[in-house]
Amino acid sequence: MVDLFSVTGPLLRRLTPERAHTVTIRLLASGLMPPMSGKDDPILAQRLWGLDFSNPVGMAAGFDKNAEVIDPLLSLGFGFVEVGTVTPRPQPGNPQPRCFRLPDQQALINRFGFNSQGLEAAARRLNAWRHRRRRRPGVVGANLGRNKDSSDAVHDYVAGVYALAPISDYLVINVSSPNTPGLRALQDRGPLTELLSRVLLARADLCERKPPPLLLKIAPDLTDEDLAAVAEVSLAVGIDGLIVSNTTISRPDAVLGLPDATEAGGLSGPPVFALSTRVLRDMYRHTRGKLPLIGVGGIASPEDAYVKIRNGASLIQLYTALIYQGPALIHDIRTRLPEFLKRDGFKTIAEAVGADAR
Ligand SMILES: Cc1cc2nc3c(=O)[nH]c(=O)nc-3n(C[C@H](O)[C@H](O)[C@H](O)COP(=O)(O)O)c2cc1C
Repeated sequence: MVDLFSVTGPLLRRLTPERAHTVTIRLLASGLMPPMSGKDDPILAQRLWGLDFSNPVGMAAGFDKNAEVIDPLLSLGFGFVEVGTVTPRPQPGNPQPRCFRLPDQQALINRFGFNSQGLEAAARRLNAWRHRRRRRPGVVGANLGRNKDSSDAVHDYVAGVYALAPISDYLVINVSSPNTPGLRALQDRGPLTELLSRVLLARADLCERKPPPLLLKIAPDLTDEDLAAVAEVSLAVGIDGLIVSNTTISRPDAVLGLPDATEAGGLSGPPVFALSTRVLRDMYRHTRGKLPLIGVGGIASPEDAYVKIRNGASLIQLYTALIYQGPALIHDIRTRLPEFLKRDGFKTIAEAVGADAR
């Protein structure tokens, strides 16, 4: 795998970022990528929301927007994969170009704006994966969004719950992408309470089986006051976890002056690490460790993954670093994390969660 990326990586970087992504999805879907071997150290195992995670490393939302490569992603060694963001109806997203590399910082700026094949296509593929005879073990969640031209955001998220709850291990309400006008205002206390309450009611309606946990994905650009409100609402309405965080609309010093740094959109990769980790730690404190948190934003090494865990993340996710480093990073994190945990005297990963945030 490492060798294969050393060949494909430089070739992919000669394509536009969006084209490189399309080619990568096709490569993965072709099944030609060799699976990553190796068992997870038992110290990495966790049971959260009644789901078994053999390791805490997940594929972040936005890579497999249409649930096309679930099994190939799990075979790279991920403990879990989040598909989406899926919008109710298919929509094209913003005009191209809408994704930019900032190679000096191994970062990206994107303004895809929820290009999505819609709930029906995602549900069909997720369902097919669930019914596969020899599928990879792993947890698969679905990230839900709204259509750009929808007049009723709550209705859109409820539609997502009805369509995907029966076939997803967990669901994410994504109100934090910077590229859909008005979306992030749903993080405000009033609209958030209304949205989460309605979505939880919809979930309770589906009584065929144990309903999947419901998580909220937030932006790293919220103020302290916003964060306190999100935490309070989350605990009060009874959602099951938070994903911290999405891309940032801010432009930290590290990217100032770089080509394309002023493109509109969300910034990801190492320049968002400090910001998203601070928000993670604050959220852990605000929720008093009562809600499992998924830490995402700028993880580019096993050390970064460990910092997220010590700052309150039970699980972590990656995206941008995979573009620059390839899937060997997943293996590195899975092998180095157990060393860090044992070195610091932890017997389980759960013991380390929030160690630096208390
Ligand atoms: C090209 C691209 C597309 C993304 N699309 C989505 C998306 O559809 N939904 C979502 O919740 N997050 C999306 N994200 C955000 C990532 O899931 C993640 O929260 C963010 O990139 C920070 O992690 P990273 O620094 O490891 O990339 C996207 C990120 C990138 C780079």
